Amino acid sequence: MKEFGQYIVTKVIGEGGMGKVWRAWKISEGGFKKVLAIKTSKSSKKHHDLFMNEAKISARFDHENIVKTFDFGKTDNEFFIVMEYIRGVDLKELVSTVKKIPEDIFFYIIDKVLSAVIYIHNFEGRQLVHRDINSKNILVSWNGNIKLSDFGITLPQYGDFDPFGKIGYVPPEVILGKGWTQSGDIWCIGVLMWEILTSKKLFSGKNKEDIKRKIISGNITPPSRINDSINEKIDQIVLKALSRIPESRYISASELQEDIRKTMNELNIKPMYRENFSSFISEYFLDKIKEEEKELSEEETRITVYFSEKSRESKSTVQDVSINTKATPKHEINNYENERYYKYLNTKNKKDIMNIYEQKQNAKSKPSESGIIGSENLTKNISKNTRIRNKKVNRKKIFIVSSVLGFVFGLSTGIFKGSYDMQNAEKIFRMGVILTKEKNFHQAKELFEISADISGLQEVKYIAESIGKGTERIE
Ligand SMILES: Nc1ncnc2c1ncn2[C@@H]1O[C@H](COP(=O)(O)OP(=O)(O)O)[C@@H](O)[C@H]1O
Ligand SMILES: [Mg+2]
Repeated sequence: MKEFGQYIVTKVIGEGGMGKVWRAWKISEGGFKKVLAIKTSKSSKKHHDLFMNEAKISARFDHENIVKTFDFGKTDNEFFIVMEYIRGVDLKELVSTVKKIPEDIFFYIIDKVLSAVIYIHNFEGRQLVHRDINSKNILVSWNGNIKLSDFGITLPQYGDFDPFGKIGYVPPEVILGKGWTQSGDIWCIGVLMWEILTSKKLFSGKNKEDIKRKIISGNITPPSRINDSINEKIDQIVLKALSRIPESRYISASELQEDIRKTMNELNIKPMYRENFSSFISEYFLDKIKEEEKELSEEETRITVYFSEKSRESKSTVQDVSINTKATPKHEINNYENERYYKYLNTKNKKDIMNIYEQKQNAKSKPSESGIIGSENLTKNISKNTRIRNKKVNRKKIFIVSSVLGFVFGLSTGIFKGSYDMQNAEKIFRMGVILTKEKNFHQAKELFEISADISGLQEVKYIAESIGKGTERIE
């Protein structure tokens, strides 16, 4: 597994002009985990300046229809941007899968894209132009959110540096050498609207020159002639955004949004709820959603094990641990597939142990009225609950067990790192410690074994064996 600073990257999820986009994880103490996306850049000077610009600008954006940027970092030879991970597809894939997009779906998507563009155009009075609005840079999440992304060439209009953008979307005036303005983004939204409505590419050709020629003077078919479920009023909006003369387009993204909303009203189309949009897209991607969920949960297990091994390795260099601390989980950790654990949870013992555990926790957190920690009560309850075979405990046994206990307490902090399973393993381990203290060795041994089984931790296994040996020798 590859690491980018404190992030573990697992899979390439996108590739573009500047570098790769990876799925990544942040994993931390106490089982904290978060899936993220990391975008890397090529290391040339030109790429570096643009990438820094992208990182700095996107970090400041705060809008529900814009992909969030959290962090920026550097490895030996790459820069990277850390973003929220969108569980979903890009709009290009959505359009090519659904084919004939219904009008209400079209309005839902475009209204959100416009909200994002309006935000960017008015951001801190900087006259920003996105320059790369296209269906691959709009992400659609399974839960129905629409997010504009990729601010790789988002710069102020009329700046010193004026990147060209992606051929096929570049407005005619830019091809003619006039440079980008915010009106260029309106053109791009025009191309985007046309492509959503028709599921086709508007400007394609044999080569770049051919495409440029079509952008400047090629015929633009009204979308309703390709998709007959589209009202002609929508054609008018699209064609106005696609005026070759910038002055004839909508004067701003806000004006375009107003017209969209007005037209919806005229066509008697109600704004769609996010939940309904989510159900609509989910139907088309059932397999993909399932697949992604499976992939994510497998990755989560893998990185949890990776992280706990790593942190144990780094710990063992500081601590003098005399046993082999390499944990190799025997099988994929899964509570309900772990037979012994499952069986255990079904026994009456579980309730008793849970009671003891909870009482112990309570006693720890709140002192009793008399000011003394409620240990007396606790002991009473423990002996009531856990009395199994009332054996006489001899001194030798206590000696063995207390040396094991010393070891137990030495290890009991910080070895259970990571997943939910690890937390359960730790809980059961701690119950084992309590029972050992109460001299209930048989149950304690069983608990340590179960904890070792779930966590795959050698230390815990060692403890279970030691207690086993200790008690065998005495009996
Ligand atoms: N935050 C994200 N979550 C999920 N997928 C993403 C995310 N960001 C980008 N991607 C995927 O990676 C692709 C490329 O990312 P993008 O930022 O557009 O890079 P480029 O500048 O190379 O085009 C996107 O089209 C999308 O499929
Ligand atoms: Mg992109």
